[in-house]
Amino acid sequence: MPASQSAKDFFRPLAVGAPTPLTEIPFRPSRAIHFFDPSNAKMAGKIPGMVGTVDVLLGNLEDAVKADNKVAAREGLVRIGQETEGLGAGGPTQLWTRINSLDSPWALDDLTTLVPAIGDRLDVVMVPKVQGAEDIHYVDRLLAQLEAKAGLDRPILVHAILETARGVANVEEICGASPRMQGLSLGPADLAADRRMKTTRVGGGHPGYLVRQDPPIDELGVAQVEAPRTTYQQDLWHYTIARMVDACAMHGIYPYYGPFGDIADTVACEDQFRNAFLLGCVGTWSLHPKQVAIAHRVFSPSVEDVAHARRVAAAMGDGTGAVMLDGKMEDDASLKQCLVMVDLAEQLAAIDPELKAAYDAIPSGEGA
Ligand code: GLV
Ligand code: MG
Repeated sequence: MPASQSAKDFFRPLAVGAPTPLTEIPFRPSRAIHFFDPSNAKMAGKIPGMVGTVDVLLGNLEDAVKADNKVAAREGLVRIGQETEGLGAGGPTQLWTRINSLDSPWALDDLTTLVPAIGDRLDVVMVPKVQGAEDIHYVDRLLAQLEAKAGLDRPILVHAILETARGVANVEEICGASPRMQGLSLGPADLAADRRMKTTRVGGGHPGYLVRQDPPIDELGVAQVEAPRTTYQQDLWHYTIARMVDACAMHGIYPYYGPFGDIADTVACEDQFRNAFLLGCVGTWSLHPKQVAIAHRVFSPSVEDVAHARRVAAAMGDGTGAVMLDGKMEDDASLKQCLVMVDLAEQLAAIDPELKAAYDAIPSGEGA
């Protein structure tokens, strides 16, 4: 909240008649945010069949949509939003969009078209290339004006992509810039370009970014630098994801991994998603239906983790003190971690019957 603003003003609508801002962003499962190009008839045709099979469908208007197709994509999204049963507005699958960047000639028309036409269906607007709180303030006020005009009774939430160096430097103020802020995604491709990183990929690791085992020392005490040594590839995105997770947690909003461009490499994709999950992210983007399955697997706690978490919770009684389980000390802090897992499992079980069956099959007192 800017210092010049009263705390009381922060939750007042930014336009007369706009819906009251939320004081908390409710958790809604969003393990996979599946991107589609609404101007691509083949992709658009698959959307009705995907409702109920993925947590979020996102109509992409920005990068990956050709300049000549920007209007068709916007209009296609309006059609899909109006005609697709169960999409958005509390249906089983949320409807999000990624608008064009605020410095493009299309962003304003994106918002002024989408909000009156499908504002009652749109859950979240993803804003790319966010540089600082000023970008969120611009979208915040504009959305309030459009919501008031359209007579909407629920605020549309805002999600920022972290994909500029300045955005990373301002990440905390971006997360706290508006009560609409729902979350952040890592945008590794644009971020790499903006930082002048020397990579050419969309997300994922790089074989050149590594550490090497120390050289063996020969009998004269000389380091054998040419000897074979194990190398360990490092994660180029660790720093940014960790910062993003802290900034989101601090502001009660949700962090996400972004795109993983090597669609064929499902194994490395799963690793990258899992690193993000372990660090605190709640979901990721999916660029191809096969990444939806990976995201659902990775961003749902495993049966083993849930069994262990429930067992710790049962053993910890009132939640204070310490117990020994399998030779390991558990205390208030490990219990809190376990409760994060148990809560998430419950929230996901409520919308995913397969997961519910798997979690329900865990014997109570498992392994005790
Ligand atoms: C996503 O938009 C990216 O730039 O990685
Ligand atoms: Mg980008």
